Amino acid sequence: MASNLAPIPELYVSYESAQKLKVEAGNLTSHDLTPRQICDLELLMNGGFNPLKGFLTEEDYDSVVETMRTKDGALWPMPITLDVSEKFAESVEPGQDIALRDQEGVILATMTVTDKWVPNKAREAEKVFGADDSAHPAVNYLHNQAGNVYLGGPVTGIQQPVHYDFRARRDTPNELRAYFRKMGWRKIVAFQTRNPLHRAHQELTFRAAKEAQANLLIHPVVGMTKPGDVDHFTRVRCYEAVLDKYPSSTTHLSLLNLAMRMAGPREALWHAIIRKNHGLTHFIVGRDHAGPGNNSQGKDFYGPYDAQELVRQHQEEVGIEMVDFKHMVYVQEKAQYYPIDEVPENSTVLNISGTELRRRLAEGLEIPEWFSFPEVVKELRRTKPPRAKQGFTVFFTGFSGSGKSTIANALMVKLMEMGGRPVTLLDGDIVRKNLSSELGFSKEHRDLNIRRIGYVASEITKNGGIAICAPIAPYATTRRAVREDVESFGAFIEVHVATSIEECEKRDRKGLYKLAREGKIKEFTGISDPYDVPESPELRVETEGTDVDNCAHQVILKLEQMGLIAG
Ligand code: PPS
Repeated sequence: MASNLAPIPELYVSYESAQKLKVEAGNLTSHDLTPRQICDLELLMNGGFNPLKGFLTEEDYDSVVETMRTKDGALWPMPITLDVSEKFAESVEPGQDIALRDQEGVILATMTVTDKWVPNKAREAEKVFGADDSAHPAVNYLHNQAGNVYLGGPVTGIQQPVHYDFRARRDTPNELRAYFRKMGWRKIVAFQTRNPLHRAHQELTFRAAKEAQANLLIHPVVGMTKPGDVDHFTRVRCYEAVLDKYPSSTTHLSLLNLAMRMAGPREALWHAIIRKNHGLTHFIVGRDHAGPGNNSQGKDFYGPYDAQELVRQHQEEVGIEMVDFKHMVYVQEKAQYYPIDEVPENSTVLNISGTELRRRLAEGLEIPEWFSFPEVVKELRRTKPPRAKQGFTVFFTGFSGSGKSTIANALMVKLMEMGGRPVTLLDGDIVRKNLSSELGFSKEHRDLNIRRIGYVASEITKNGGIAICAPIAPYATTRRAVREDVESFGAFIEVHVATSIEECEKRDRKGLYKLAREGKIKEFTGISDPYDVPESPELRVETEGTDVDNCAHQVILKLEQMGLIAG
């Protein structure tokens, strides 16, 4: 049997043993897995991350970070780590077994903890992602979401994470291998994607299959992709809508529950290994594979073809052949797509970037037939109505007494006068009364308070409403986290109410500054506690010398400019 078709080792125990182990594991210290860890665990258990047998140990981690190899020399470019909080880490010692549970408490696996250590996150960021720059989504995750302690050790699989959506389209590596065996497919080229399929992608996949003389597997990621991407439900409906444009006898669609890191070259190599494990013989790597967008200087993190270069160097060792592609563009005179380096001379090249597509969708503008399929555009429009019909969040931040609540109230009334969408005001004081009454003003409690506001605002935004938030929200990282939560569903408008601390203290509307100066209120923002001034909010309003009505009106003008309210 060809090596890509033989079954691959999994980490699951037999059904009977799993039933027994599950009962025993009930008594173990248990860790509640994060969404990303659930994705990682699934691929560890089903062989997608072969040859890993568990979350990386400290030695393997160091070696993977530095050399892209485990200490035994196996090529593995991505650290797969079980990050936990310091508090949880204190309850676990090496040698101990722990239970790994999903978010509903179901035990998916046990792990024998062999290693516990505090990683050097800055080094991980530099080596794995190319820069310790929080503009990179995985670096941001590393510093601001991942726990500070890593646990490593072998995993014993009890059951797969449960998925209720698109069940028939999800395949483990062994299920895919079995499918290829059944179909008699020997050569199969994988197309990795985190975007809806447009005509350029279709042309690229057709060409790749032709070039490799292979069958085609459309293998989109449905685990975690880049924050702000089109959600996987919509994307899968888009893939299904165009599947009949492919020959069914040579094309298959399967969903991969991978949590991407957007690590460019390293990620492309990781993807190639994962595809090899799924029984693929060829793998398409296009321009800027798994690119994270711009860094904090507005430049690319990686060169557009760095990923191809790295995969080319290692393809033989991995045992999968790369099919590389240049950027595909539409040539008007030929009514056809070409790789950019093969465009006939003196022809008109048309291209719509991802940003331009989002703009057209947001503004309800035409999306031409040469660019995409009407079925795909219809699905996208269904999920993303034009901006003027989407929900959004206005997030005021500023010192106590800066005027946030007053402006927020005025804005609410103005928006209600316009009508069309429900408006909810999440004022600092209201939230502290109704959502966060048990919280104080330590950094931890403030963060919790703001994350709660962010959660409610993102739900409101998702459901097409307008959320107006007006907490102090002194920490930039927390504001960014809320922005990410909200931006998965709609626009986030950060408004810095830039009243100076001197002016706030002078106004002292609640008499709190006096108490803070006397030391009767501790950790008071601006007096005895920090405030990170927003670097690039959507709007900054100066309240000194400007009346409330005008401040609220400035926000309305901003919303109009962003297309969120119809002119
Ligand atoms: S935070 O940091 O965003 O969680 O704060 P927030 O929920 O907006 O709550 C701020 C209101 O609580 C009052 N208050 C304090 N503010 C800052 N620091 C300390 N230590 C503090 N203690 C009480 C204050 O009245 C804030 O109300 P606003 O509406 O901002 O004036």
